[in-house]
Formats: sequence, structure tokens, C-alpha cells
Amino acid sequence: MLGNRLDAWGLPMRVMHGIGMGLVLILIIHGWWMTEFAARESRFEQYAWHASLGYALLLLTALRITWRGLYKAPALPAESLKWERNLAALGHMALYAFMLSCAILGWALAGTFSQPLDAKLFGFIPVPMIMSGEEIHGLLEEKHAFFAWTLAALVVSHLVATAYHQFYKKDKLLQRMF
Ligand code: HEM
Ligand code: HEM
Repeated sequence: MLGNRLDAWGLPMRVMHGIGMGLVLILIIHGWWMTEFAARESRFEQYAWHASLGYALLLLTALRITWRGLYKAPALPAESLKWERNLAALGHMALYAFMLSCAILGWALAGTFSQPLDAKLFGFIPVPMIMSGEEIHGLLEEKHAFFAWTLAALVVSHLVATAYHQFYKKDKLLQRMF
């Protein structure tokens, strides 16, 4: 029930994948919009909304990685080639690593404004700041953006891999997750 079947992901992993997917897409698109297009006077408010979602993603990703360690993943389709298995493992590990590190960098960044971002997890749980000091603001901003855009590139390659399975390999991999 909580774990996975031999040939398909269990409900908890499917739900977490779905919510995580939604959060990452919103964070990237909204993050880009708020820094490029949002009216100056509403920016700080937008940053706080973005940070609240980012904290939720951080929590979800930590839970997801824990779950992944607790329950065995379904076996890949038997006909998978060695390079496909290796690339899938590497790509999935990178997705987890960049979701975590991008959110942690954002969290660090939140404390380095002249007035720290007051964003709450789920809109009501206060989150302590892990970093302060305006002198490192620029550096963290740059790193956070770099990690976010690298994550976006990983998501695109993940989608290409999904299409490869769906249309070329025709191995019904999508049905394991959705
Ligand atoms: C922001 C978007 C997304 C992120 C961050 C993401 C992340 C991940 C991660 C980390 C895994 C690995 C699960 C594990 O082995 O622990 C995974 C698996 C999977 N994802 Fe995504 N995903 C995203 C979007 C999508 C979309 C849009 C699709 C389909 C159109 C998709 C299809 C799949 C499938 C089919 C698997 C399972 C592969 C298998 O059965 O081995 N993902 N995803
Ligand atoms: C994985 C989660 C996250 C993703 C994918 C993400 C994505 C983004 C993106 C795409 C931008 C625009 C970068 C650019 O200028 O090109 C951005 C900016 C920003 N993010 Fe995030 N973010 C995440 C988590 C967080 C968290 C947890 C916080 C704070 C607690 C945060 C705070 C900020 C702030 C303050 C900016 C504006 C930086 C600036 O002044 O230019 N982010 N984010």
C-alpha cells in the first residue's frame, strides 16, 4: 500500500511526483516572471509567495527521498539497456539533488535582504533564517538562479526521456507513474 509494486510506483510516490512536478513548474515560471516582469512595488510580496512554495518543495523533496530509501523502486523494464539504466539513475539523482540544493540556496538568499523575507511554510508555519549578511546577497542570487535554470534543463531532458519511452521504446513507462 505504502510501497511500490514490482512493476509500478505506489500511490505515495505517484502523488509526491505529481505535486513535486506542479511545484517545480510553478516555481520556475513564476520565479522568472517575478524577477523580469512583476511591478517593482509588488516584488517583495511575490518573492515571499515564491519562498513559501519553495519551502513546501524542500519539505516534499526530503520526504520523497526518505520514501525512496525506505521502499524498493520498481524494477526497470527487463529489456532496458545498460546505458539506459545508468542514465536514468543519474538523471533522477540529479533531479533530486537540484530540487534540494536550489531550494536551500533560495532559503539562504531569503535571509540576506536588508529586511529578511517573511515567508511561512503553508502560509502559517514560521521558518527560521539560515543565513544573513547583505554582502553575500548578490552571490546567492546568482547561484540560486543558476541552480534553478539547471533544474529547468534537467526537467526538459526528463521530458525528452519520457517521450523516448512513450514513442520509441513503447514500454508503457508512463503508466508506472501516472
Ligand atoms: C518538474 C517536473 C518533474 C520532476 C522534477 C520529476 C522528477 C522525477 C524523479 C526524481 C523521478 C525518479 C523517481 C525515482 O526513481 O525515485 C521521476 C520519475 C518519473 N517521471 Fe518525472 N518529474 C517531473 C515531470 C514529469 C512529467 C511531466 C512526466 C511525464 C510526462 C514524468 C514522468 C515520469 C515517469 C514515467 C517516471 C518513472 C520512471 C520509472 O518508472 O522508472 N515526470 N520523475
Ligand atoms: C527548487 C525550488 C526553487 C526554484 C525552482 C526556484 C526558482 C527561481 C527562479 C527561476 C528564479 C528567477 C531567477 C532569475 O533571476 O533568473 C528565482 C528567484 C528567486 N527565488 Fe527561487 N526558487 C526555488 C526556491 C526558492 C526558495 C525556497 C526561496 C526562499 C526561501 C526562493 C527565493 C527566491 C528569491 C528571493 C528570488 C529573487 C532573486 C532576485 O532577487 O533576483 N526561491 N527562483
